[in-house]
Amino acid sequence: MLLDTFGRQATDLRVSLTDRCNLRCTYCMPEEGLQWLAKPELLTDDEIVRLVRIAVTDLGVTDVRFTGGEPLLRPGLTGIVERCAALEPRPRLSLTTNGIGLERTAAALRASGLDRVNVSLDTLSPEVFHRLTRRKRHADVLRGLAAARASGLDPVKVNTVLMPGVNDTEAPDLLAWAVENGYELRFIEQMPLDAQHGWQRDGMITAGDILTSLRTRFSLTPEPDEARGSAPAERWLVNGGPHRVGVIASVTRPFCRACDRTRLTADGQIRNCLFAREETDLRALLRSDASDEAIATRWREAMWGKKAGAGLDSEDFVQPERPMSAIGG
Ligand code: GTP
Ligand code: 5AD
Ligand code: SF4
Repeated sequence: MLLDTFGRQATDLRVSLTDRCNLRCTYCMPEEGLQWLAKPELLTDDEIVRLVRIAVTDLGVTDVRFTGGEPLLRPGLTGIVERCAALEPRPRLSLTTNGIGLERTAAALRASGLDRVNVSLDTLSPEVFHRLTRRKRHADVLRGLAAARASGLDPVKVNTVLMPGVNDTEAPDLLAWAVENGYELRFIEQMPLDAQHGWQRDGMITAGDILTSLRTRFSLTPEPDEARGSAPAERWLVNGGPHRVGVIASVTRPFCRACDRTRLTADGQIRNCLFAREETDLRALLRSDASDEAIATRWREAMWGKKAGAGLDSEDFVQPERPMSAIGG
């Protein structure tokens, strides 16, 4: 098991498959992109599957989510999913993507064993999308979402980051659209994880702002706490249900106390927290012919050192060295 000194158990593994992305969201990375990892630095498909196997069979991980950068850019994605779905016990498998290319790949991913998908979409306007992501791909994302739903991936969740003066007035329209199309919408408070270090507490749309805006058009009833478990999103029933809307309020209502996450970066580093200041190198172990047991032991040690919380809203918070796209979100 992956335990820490605060009694938490990590059962949810987030695996970043690449640090690259085909969008340039302003809250994530600069126009010119970043210094990408070189191919030899990336874990191979075999190395990834081996680590997932160790996590699932020896360390009690039950849920595996593939992230990026943009995970659909990883050539071997479908094969990785298929091999992870064949593990015993079979982990639940999910993917977080910007949706570009999902139209082409959703059915194959579903057939390979992917259970569900979370797609990022911050706006219903193609113009605002262009301004926010610096790419004209809005229609691709909408088609990707429709393909995900049609292929039987369930639920299909949509992640939205609201930015003042850009898309913050769209919250009720986005919710109406999500309800109509059967997507579960979650609004995410912007976190200090951008490569440019431009995040400002004062310029952030809070969970409170989002709820106030949604309540101008919808009645929201909180879901009971038991239903939340360790999920980062707090959820509300929309107009009495059954549709729900979530808010991931990492800054103003952190959920660190119930955190069940462990992370693997595309270059084989374990992070015990999204905001951890240290990483544990499993790639070197993998490439020095270490045994499964030696790798599992190093992973357990990495998680034992997990801090109580990240304290994003505190004066002494220090942003991690690597940006979100290199950590895997
Ligand atoms: P499910 O609830 O299992 O569907 O997934 P998720 O919401 O955790 O995953 P997703 O990749 O869709 O991430 C949504 C948002 O939650 C992103 O902004 C992530 O960066 C953020 N997030 C994921 N894990 C953590 C975490 O451990 N801590 C914090 N603060 N944010 C997280
Ligand atoms: N703060 C909050 N969410 C972010 N995302 C990317 N950068 C940030 C940030 N700084 C979101 C993306 C995607 C999810 C994985 O994380 O929009 O939906
Ligand atoms: Fe790409 Fe996601 Fe960063 Fe946008 S937030 S640039 S989609 S990694």
